[in-house]
Amino acid sequence: MTGGRVITPARALRGTVAVPGDKSLSHRSIMLAGLADTLVMVKNFLASADCLSTVACMRALGVSVNVRSNGEVAVRGKGLYGLSEPDNVLDAGNSGTTIRLLSGLLAGQPCFSVLTGDDSLRRRPMARIVTPLTQMGAKLVGRENSRYAPVAIEPAASLRGIRYDMPVASAQVKSAIMFASLYASSPTTVTEPYLSRDHTERMFAQFGVPVFREELSVTVNPVSSLQAPAVVDVPGDFSSAAFLLVAATIIPDSEVVLTNVGVNPTRTGLLDVLRDMGADIEVLSQRSSGEEPVADLRVRSAALRGVSVSSEMIPRLIDEIPVLAVAALFARGRTRIEGAEELRVKETDRLRAMACELARMGGDVTERRDGLIIEGTGKLHSAECLTYADHRVAMALTVAGMASEGVCLDDRGCVAISFPGFFEIMEGCRA
Ligand code: S3P
Repeated sequence: MTGGRVITPARALRGTVAVPGDKSLSHRSIMLAGLADTLVMVKNFLASADCLSTVACMRALGVSVNVRSNGEVAVRGKGLYGLSEPDNVLDAGNSGTTIRLLSGLLAGQPCFSVLTGDDSLRRRPMARIVTPLTQMGAKLVGRENSRYAPVAIEPAASLRGIRYDMPVASAQVKSAIMFASLYASSPTTVTEPYLSRDHTERMFAQFGVPVFREELSVTVNPVSSLQAPAVVDVPGDFSSAAFLLVAATIIPDSEVVLTNVGVNPTRTGLLDVLRDMGADIEVLSQRSSGEEPVADLRVRSAALRGVSVSSEMIPRLIDEIPVLAVAALFARGRTRIEGAEELRVKETDRLRAMACELARMGGDVTERRDGLIIEGTGKLHSAECLTYADHRVAMALTVAGMASEGVCLDDRGCVAISFPGFFEIMEGCRA
C-alpha cells in the first residue's frame, strides 16, 4: 500500500472536536435566506462541496452570497418573487439536496431553468419529485421520461395546494414539495410513511412560514414574504459526528468529546442504536440553537453487541448506515439492518459498496435486497478498497481501517462533499 491514501491503525482516540456545520441545515439556510428581503448572516456554514453547489446555484439566480473564511456567510436575498432567470444550466454537482429542494423552489418561479449534476446525481431518481410537483401544476420534465436529471422547469401559470402521500420517507422530497407550497394558491399537506428529518419544517418556522404538524403530516400555508431572522446559527453535523462516535467506541481506550452537535431527534437514530448495542455515549448540556436542539457528546470505548434495525428507524439514521455496518463488525453477534433499500439510490449503492469493501477487509457482511446482515467478528485485515467517490463510504472505511490493520482508499478527496477536514480531525485525535 502506498502514499497518502493509506490510513494506518489507531491505538486510541482522544480529544475535543467541533465537527463542521450541518449539511442539511447549511443548504436550507442559503435557500431560504435567498428568498428573504433582509440580510441574513449564516454562522458555522458548512463550506463543503455540496453546500457550495447550492451557493453557486443561488448566485446564478441573482442572490448575493458572500462566503467568509470564518465560516460566516452573508446572504442578501431577492425576496420570494425576485429571483432572476439563470443564463446557464444550474449545476448541483453531487448534491441530491441541492437538486431536489431547488426543483421545488424553482417550480414556483416565473422563469425557465435547467438543473443537472455530476455522473452520480444524474443516475439518482427524480420522478419522486416530478410526480408531486406536476400534481401542483408545475411544468417540469427530466431525462428518460422524467426519471433522471437534467430537469427542465418552465414557468407555471399557477401552483395549487395538494394533499400528497409520499411512497418513501424522504426529507428531500418532502422539502421540495414544501418549497413549492410557498407559491401555491392554497395549503399543501404532505404525509410520510415514517418521519424523515424535519429541518425544513423547523427552518420555515424560523423564517415566519406557518407550518402545522400532525404526526406524519405537515401542512404549509403559502405566504407573500418571509420574515427572516438576522442570524441563522448552524449546529455541528450529527452525520459527521457519527464517524467519531463509532471510531471512539470501537477503538479501545478512547475518549472523545464532540461539541455543539445538532441532536434533532429525527437525525439521532445512530445514537439510540449504538446505545442499544452497549455504547458509552453521554449527551451533555443540551440547549437550543434557533429551532434546533444542540448538545455536546462524550463517547468512550465500549464493548458492543449485535442488534436489529428495521424500517421505522431507517430515516433517523439513513446516512449513518455505512458507519453502523462498521460498528456492527466489532460487536459480539449478528446485526441485521432491514428496510434500508433507499441506500441503493444514494451517491452510490451503499448496501453493495459496504458489503463488497468490508468483505475485502475480511468482514462477514451479507447483502440483502433491503439491508445487510453483519456477523461481528471484531477482526478485519488491511486491504485496498474502493470508495465509489462516495464521501460516506470513504469515511466509514477509514474508521474500519483505523480500528483494525489499516486501509488504502482509491480516493480520499470525496470526503470534501460533506466533511472537509475529516482526515485532519481523525489524525488529530490519535492518542
Ligand atoms: C437530506 C435527506 C436525506 C439524506 C441526505 C440529506 C436532506 O436524503 O440522505 O444526505 O438534507 O434533506 P433523502 O431525503 O433522499 O432520504
